[in-house]
Amino acid sequence: MQAERKAQELWSHRSVFILALMGSSIGLGNIWKFPHLISEQGGGTFILVYLICMLLVGVPMMTAEVLIGRHTRSNPVQALRILSQQTGASPNWQWVGVLAIVTGLLIFSFYAVVAAWIFYYVFSLSSGLLVDVGLDQSNTFFTQMLINPDALVISHTLFMLIVLLILGAGVRRGLDRAIRYLMPLMLLLVLILLVYATQTGYFAQAYHHLFSFRPEQITSTMVLSALGHAFFTFSLGMGVIMTYGSYLSRKESIGQTVACVGVMDTVLALLVGMVIFPVLLSVQMEPVSGPGLLFITMPVAFGQLHAGQVLCVLFFLFVGVAAVTSAISLMEPVTAWIEQQLGLKRFTAATLAVLGAWVLSLVVLFSFSYFAGFTLLQMNVFEQLGALTTYVLLPVIGFATMIFTGWILTRRITQDELSMSVPFYYLWRLCLRYLVPFVIGLIFVTNLYNVSF
Ligand code: PHE
Repeated sequence: MQAERKAQELWSHRSVFILALMGSSIGLGNIWKFPHLISEQGGGTFILVYLICMLLVGVPMMTAEVLIGRHTRSNPVQALRILSQQTGASPNWQWVGVLAIVTGLLIFSFYAVVAAWIFYYVFSLSSGLLVDVGLDQSNTFFTQMLINPDALVISHTLFMLIVLLILGAGVRRGLDRAIRYLMPLMLLLVLILLVYATQTGYFAQAYHHLFSFRPEQITSTMVLSALGHAFFTFSLGMGVIMTYGSYLSRKESIGQTVACVGVMDTVLALLVGMVIFPVLLSVQMEPVSGPGLLFITMPVAFGQLHAGQVLCVLFFLFVGVAAVTSAISLMEPVTAWIEQQLGLKRFTAATLAVLGAWVLSLVVLFSFSYFAGFTLLQMNVFEQLGALTTYVLLPVIGFATMIFTGWILTRRITQDELSMSVPFYYLWRLCLRYLVPFVIGLIFVTNLYNVSF
């Protein structure tokens, strides 16, 4: 067991840790991907398959990451170094931590660009720039924003400053406090939007669409998408959960906490679906996925409804809060690493991390305009980053971390840290040693196959 942290370097309460993990988990994936997946891949059947994947793969993986963080009380690089020393394994395992931090940074630079778009939309919508538009106009507005990025630089920088202010203030005064305000705000916004959705007259139809059980639709593609989504939405493979776990008090039960996060993340994703679908159905629009849903379809759909303009602003505010709570979690591992490795003050470490990320992210921001010429395999930098992280880096890091926890960490370390009842402990270990590596390997090979053909 490592040296204890001071109180200001720990979460103030277990509930804040749960909210912090929820904040990290609930992000763009829940908003622009999950509802679309459900609708396209079999409604309630997909939800059931997803829940099974979450319980057998997501929860054991998240538990493993929290365990590593809390046991070592360190950032991912140092955590893996300490544990390999304790178990006599090769010190090279720390490179998995390095890779995780780099991946988090890359995903952050992608996330920050989408966040800049979201902020830009909040300003445009509230100043009446995007009122009563049809699909064509909405499309043009979005494309114009991408190819004239000067205004975006302002919202992008604003987003970076918010992240810096939160991270720079430290765990208790920064992260903990921000989570305690932002998460209730996020939940409140979802509830307002949900009440609105019930008034559209299409709530029952949307419910039927999302939850109808169509078992004949279970296919291998469906299972793989459910697995891939569970992986991304749980923010696994980026050292995020490890770092957040390193601030958790030793009194708390890891298993229960993680299961609670899994359930809440899914419930919230379903609630978001129950907001998006009634709105789309009431104006007879098709649910698409990705940026198209958020930035092109939703403003048009809201615009056609009573009081839709105001609600659309609230919707984008909700997405903005979800992006901020995920973004801070993505930057926490690198900040903690710089702070511990170089022995710098927290604010200095956060400034260095955010400054580096800002430059990296500007390249991504300009990938639709000034750098649009840099393409590889017909993808611009924005798309390349998405593909590299999702298809290669995340599965590789996830696989390595699970092999490390399942096969290299001693039973004494894991059992002590988890203090679960014996059957649960064995179930967890079984999943981690066999099921999870097999499943990640499968996702990896299938993704590579799909990309290359
Ligand atoms: N879980 C987030 C989402 O669903 C993505 C994310 C991954 C956020 C990793 C933080 C860390 O959008």
